Amino acid sequence: MTDSKDLEAEIHPLKNEDRKLQEDLENRAKKADVLTSRPPWSRLSRCRAVAFFLSLFLCLLVVFVVSFIIPCPDRPAPQGTWSVHYNTAVTYDFLATEDVNRDRIQDVLFLYKNTNSSNDFNRSCADEGFSSPCTVVAAVSGANGSVLWERPAAQDGALVECAIPQPRDSGASSACIFVGRPGSLVAVDSFTGETLWSHPSSLGGNASILSPLLRVPDVDADGVPDLLVLTQERGEVNGYIYSGSTGHQIGHRGSLGVDGTSGSLLHVTRAGAHYVLLPCASSLCGCSVKGLYEKVTGRDSPLKTDPLWEDRLNATAHRLLLHSSGALRYLMKVPGKAGEDLLLVSSEACELLDGQDLAPRWTLSAAQVLRKPTLGHYKPDTLAVVIENGTGIDRQILLLDLSTGAILWSQALPGLPGDPQSASLPTADHRSAFFFWGLHELTGTNQMMPRDARHSLYMFHPTLPSILLELANVSANIVTFHVALFEPSRHAACLLLMGPASPDAPGLVSVAKHKVRDLIPSSRVVRLAEGGPDSDQAVRDRFSRLRYRSEA
Ligand SMILES: *[C@@H]1O[C@H](CO)[C@@H](O)[C@H](O)[C@H]1NC(C)=O
Ligand SMILES: *[C@@H]1O[C@H](CO)[C@@H](O)[C@H](O)[C@H]1NC(C)=O
Ligand SMILES: *[C@@H]1O[C@H](CO)[C@@H](O)[C@H](O)[C@H]1NC(C)=O
Ligand SMILES: *[C@@H]1O[C@H](CO)[C@@H](O)[C@H](O)[C@H]1NC(C)=O
Ligand SMILES: *[C@@H]1O[C@H](CO)[C@@H](O)[C@H](O)[C@H]1NC(C)=O
Ligand SMILES: *[C@@H]1O[C@H](CO)[C@@H](O)[C@H](O)[C@H]1NC(C)=O
Ligand SMILES: *[C@@H]1O[C@H](CO)[C@@H](O)[C@H](O)[C@H]1NC(C)=O
Repeated sequence: MTDSKDLEAEIHPLKNEDRKLQEDLENRAKKADVLTSRPPWSRLSRCRAVAFFLSLFLCLLVVFVVSFIIPCPDRPAPQGTWSVHYNTAVTYDFLATEDVNRDRIQDVLFLYKNTNSSNDFNRSCADEGFSSPCTVVAAVSGANGSVLWERPAAQDGALVECAIPQPRDSGASSACIFVGRPGSLVAVDSFTGETLWSHPSSLGGNASILSPLLRVPDVDADGVPDLLVLTQERGEVNGYIYSGSTGHQIGHRGSLGVDGTSGSLLHVTRAGAHYVLLPCASSLCGCSVKGLYEKVTGRDSPLKTDPLWEDRLNATAHRLLLHSSGALRYLMKVPGKAGEDLLLVSSEACELLDGQDLAPRWTLSAAQVLRKPTLGHYKPDTLAVVIENGTGIDRQILLLDLSTGAILWSQALPGLPGDPQSASLPTADHRSAFFFWGLHELTGTNQMMPRDARHSLYMFHPTLPSILLELANVSANIVTFHVALFEPSRHAACLLLMGPASPDAPGLVSVAKHKVRDLIPSSRVVRLAEGGPDSDQAVRDRFSRLRYRSEA
């Protein structure tokens, strides 16, 4: 019986539904009859209704009280703008962001040396084995600029590498390591500012330290990446390897057998072999980390070498990987289709090399690039490289497609001596906002650089290619400029480290944070061509509405 009904239901599902509906209605009608015909039940239901509405009202009241009247126990809103000053001090080219106090807002780390010891921080240089004044690393809150911790880090300036993981038993999760001049190695816990370890380093007395401090794979098998310091002494580059967990030197000094300059990097070939690459005059020099490790310790290393690269290095008898056209200025690792590729900037050309066979992918000649290029996204999810061609009145900003070298956008934007480097920040639409320094007013004029010109900061977004937004201008000497996302989505801010141009002449050092959205209402719209929204306010609104994403 039920079987046939079910079968029917399967064949006529809608019909069945209809019938159910009808039955339902009938049932309800019956119930209604029952209720109206029995007065005692009706009083009870009124009570129920009252109880129901009362509890609903109480619920809403609680929701209302919780959401509107009781203030949230939330942290205070971060300040859009803040600055920190030191009166008679010098500073160095280092600025990093990290969430030090774990309030989910990025905090700022920088170095300074206060030459007026009477207003020095209470932890003295002597406590850490330096003479006063010494270089101090400071962490300030990204939310309001209050000092979180300060700690002597070196005698005079330093190479810094942050976010180095530390072994579990050290009690610290990550450290910043400072290689100071004339020879010290200090590790500071990024979160507390406590010194984890500190040693005088064995760098040669007359050696000049080449930047940057390189992080090499864990060669001493303690689970922490190790460090490589390159120095230049009497026309020869030497390498010193230090343990990332204790700071002890591993082995002796090892010569790379070449002369070179700052700007080295660690490259991983597709075979998984690690090579140190550095610019040496008009060539690209290199050596394997395995080879260097074996040279300094005399022991075998489990690291790999790449046969292709070894052949190349061997073929030249020295450690040259290739000759470039003109003096090699910058070397950059860029993401490629399969692993990392290399971008080479020389005095005559800008070239993308395959990360495995070093074959040129594209070359942009007749480029006078004096600044390190910056990466960003011009088209969604497609990397572009920003290069500054020329200097002074003749400077041009070029945005090139990284995979083809095609020019996507170019704009004359005169630069002033001492302008900081360009920057970019990814936006939620998978492109990037770009930040350029310069002075647009000089375009097309033959006038000389004004002596008192202020550095102007321009913002650009690829969805408005004919517009530059002049966000701010600064007259002080800018040592370092960064754009960072302080909190997810909206809180993008510019960070400026300003101070004396020379470490020999102390002056006012300041670190300032400016939230990008707070700079936009007072910004000036510069129209480069026809197009874009009609009113300046509409342009500012478009820029204000930009959302940012963190670099994945
Ligand atoms: C050093 O700092 C003290 C206290 O802040 C100040 O009174 C003094 O003028 C400063 N000296 C110099 C040379 O700036
Ligand atoms: C530095 O000052 C802080 C408080 O301002 C204090 O807790 C700390 O012990 C002082 N450190 C030294 C080395 O005097
Ligand atoms: C700054 O913010 C921190 C939290 O990030 C807070 O603990 C501190 O009291 C604030 N300082 C000032 C001066 O507002
Ligand atoms: C450093 O260089 C000076 C001269 O340039 C020389 O007299 C001195 O011996 C050198 N010191 C070392 C440790 O090589
Ligand atoms: C490098 O060349 C030398 C001879 O010039 C040869 O003895 C050596 O085996 C070669 N090394 C490699 C890794 O090919
Ligand atoms: C770079 O600038 C130089 C002179 O300033 C110019 O000759 C050259 O064509 C420019 N290169 C590109 C790719 O625009
Ligand atoms: C610098 O910026 C201020 C406002 O931020 C503006 O009034 C002034 O005209 C700008 N100066 C230059 C030279 O652009």
